[in-house]
Amino acid sequence: MKKRVLVTYNMFREGYSKLIEKYDVTFPPADRECFSYDEVMEVIDQYDALQSMYNFPVDKNLLDKATKLKIVSNYAVGYDNIDIPYATQKGVVVTNTPDPVTEPTADMAMGLLLSVARRISECDRNLRIPGKIEWGLLDNLGYSLYGKQLGIFGMGRIGKALARRAIASGMKIVYHNHKPISEEQEKLLNARYVSFEELITTSDVVSINAPHTNETHHIINEKVLEKMKKTAILINTARGPLVDEAALAKALKNKTIYGAGLDVFEFGHKVSDELLELDNVVLTPHIGTQTFDVRNEMAYCVSENIINFFEGGKITRVN
Ligand code: GLV
Repeated sequence: MKKRVLVTYNMFREGYSKLIEKYDVTFPPADRECFSYDEVMEVIDQYDALQSMYNFPVDKNLLDKATKLKIVSNYAVGYDNIDIPYATQKGVVVTNTPDPVTEPTADMAMGLLLSVARRISECDRNLRIPGKIEWGLLDNLGYSLYGKQLGIFGMGRIGKALARRAIASGMKIVYHNHKPISEEQEKLLNARYVSFEELITTSDVVSINAPHTNETHHIINEKVLEKMKKTAILINTARGPLVDEAALAKALKNKTIYGAGLDVFEFGHKVSDELLELDNVVLTPHIGTQTFDVRNEMAYCVSENIINFFEGGKITRVN
């Protein structure tokens, strides 16, 4: 009998063709975007593999119900939606999609950085309102990137890809990580390892590129924001809860930092009202990997992880 795979989201089918050929794959009905948690709970005991999206909770209750489940192939590099210790305890393998998300997420971080530093979104917004924009030589001033210091918190694949882009803009790179990267990589990226304290107090731009864990929860909080430069920019393309959003809104409102670019939010799809009222923050709806190309590449990657898990081959395993 063919293995059964449950895909929680109605994604483009292109990347799934090999999976569909080999296994019995269930997608949500054509007129639906995704299966709800309750719907998945109803049927999960019939499936050998689950292909979850980054915001679909794979928790204890679901794992307890999933008596046949062998693998959760997560459509994301992040896997904070999955109870990893419990999956491990249950013998369920979890995989993610690091390769396809690296470059587009770094593009997004760089795009947000440029937009905040040079006030691109703000100017665009104001230019559309009759009489709102000023054209004077001293209006709409922002900050240059050339010669400025970018502090990267989390020098993994995305952090390094961002560093490459920032170097092209003439920025200097410092970083903080759970451990330093190799000397060879440091040389290649012209990057210097610093303490978290040095990173936040001396950087012109702080970019968050680390996963959300107990240790990184609210790593950017009121105290940290107070220590940042008054001209500093904060970029977050990782996960919202690394930043205390209320503290950030306060810092932006009081101009204790210059600006922020956020693709992710502390409360998922709910953006704090305080942020929506501010001009010195650029907000995007978690679109770091939202390109036609990447959607297909990620679908291909989640499929390969399932196929290779069952048939023997390389998987990007996280537990
Ligand atoms: C997107 O947020 C991802 O984790 O891939």
